[in-house]
Amino acid sequence: MNIEAIIKERQSWLRWKNIAPIREALRQLPEIEDVEVSLGDCVTLRSDRVTQELAGAVERVARMMMPWRKGPFDLFGTFIDSEWRSYKKFNLLKPYLDLEGKRVADVGCNNGYYMFRMLELGPAQVLGIDPSPLFRSQFDLINRYVKSDRLRYEMLGIEHMRGFADMFDTVFCLGVLYHRSDPVVALKSLKQSLKRGGELYLDTFMIDGEEPICLVPESTYSKISNIHFVPTVPALENWCKKAGFERFEVLEIVRTEPDEQRKTDWIQGESLEDFLHPENPSLTIEGYPAPKRVYIKTYRK
Ligand SMILES: C[S@@+](CC[C@H](N)C(=O)[O-])C[C@H]1O[C@@H](n2cnc3c(N)ncnc32)[C@H](O)[C@@H]1O
Repeated sequence: MNIEAIIKERQSWLRWKNIAPIREALRQLPEIEDVEVSLGDCVTLRSDRVTQELAGAVERVARMMMPWRKGPFDLFGTFIDSEWRSYKKFNLLKPYLDLEGKRVADVGCNNGYYMFRMLELGPAQVLGIDPSPLFRSQFDLINRYVKSDRLRYEMLGIEHMRGFADMFDTVFCLGVLYHRSDPVVALKSLKQSLKRGGELYLDTFMIDGEEPICLVPESTYSKISNIHFVPTVPALENWCKKAGFERFEVLEIVRTEPDEQRKTDWIQGESLEDFLHPENPSLTIEGYPAPKRVYIKTYRK
C-alpha cells in the first residue's frame, strides 16, 4: 500500500463543491499573534490581540463548518458547544494513559478534539486519521492557531493503517469499529500499524451477555444506518484474539447519557433524545438495548 500516494490523491477532496468555500474562508482568516492555548475540558484559544471583528470572522468560518460533533472549543470567545461533550470520554481514558514521548495514532479522530487533549500528556507525535474533509477542516481551523507541529491529520481510513507498518506505540480507535462490516480485518489493520507490544485503546457499542455473540441490527441502530455488529464483551475479546492481540483488559463500561450527547446550536438535526424509545429509554427507537460502550485496552503480540 503506497500511503503517500493515497494521501496525495485525497488532497483533492478538499476541493469538493461543498468543501471548497469553507477552505477558501479558512485561507482568508487572518493570522493571530500571541495565542494562548488552554487544554482543559474545553480547548480554549485566547489572545489580547483579537479584535471583535477578528473574533467575528473566526465564528463565521466555524459556523460554515457545522455540524460540530466533538468538542467543546472556545475560539476567542465563541463557544462551540458540540453535540458531544467529548471530555467525558477523554477524562474516562486519561487515568489509563501514558503517552510521554510516544508515537500515537487516533483512528477516526473526527475534528481532532482528543488529539489536542493528548498534547497535555507529552506525546512525541500524534497522527489523526479520518476520511472526512469537513472534520479535517475543523481540525485545520483549530490548529491554525494552536500551531502544534506534533499533530498531523490525514484523510485516511482505518483500512489504511496497515500501510503504517510497525510505526506506533499507542493507537486509539474510538467509536469506529461498529461502522466496519469486517471488524476482525479492521482490527488486523490496527495491529499492523503497532510496534510489537504496542497498545490499542478502543471503544465500541456493546450488548450485555456472557456468550461470544453479536447483535446484528436489521437496518438502523439508534437511527445510525451503518452499524454492522454490536458485540458482547466476550465476542469483542475473541475478535481481538483473532486479529493478533493479547492481554485484553476491560477499562470501563458506560451507558451514553443525554448530558454527554445532545442537540445544541452547533449541529443540525437530531441527537440522542430522538434515538431512544419514547416510552422506554433503556431501548433504542428500534427496540434494541440502548447505547452502551465498552472501553478496552489490548496489546499487539
Ligand atoms: C462515531 S465517530 C467517533 C469519533 C471519535 N473517535 C470519538 O470516539 O468521539 C466516527 C468517526 O469515524 C470516522 N470514519 C468514517 N469512516 C471511517 C474509516 N473508514 N476509518 C476511520 N474513521 C472513519 C467518521 O468520520 C467519524 O469522525
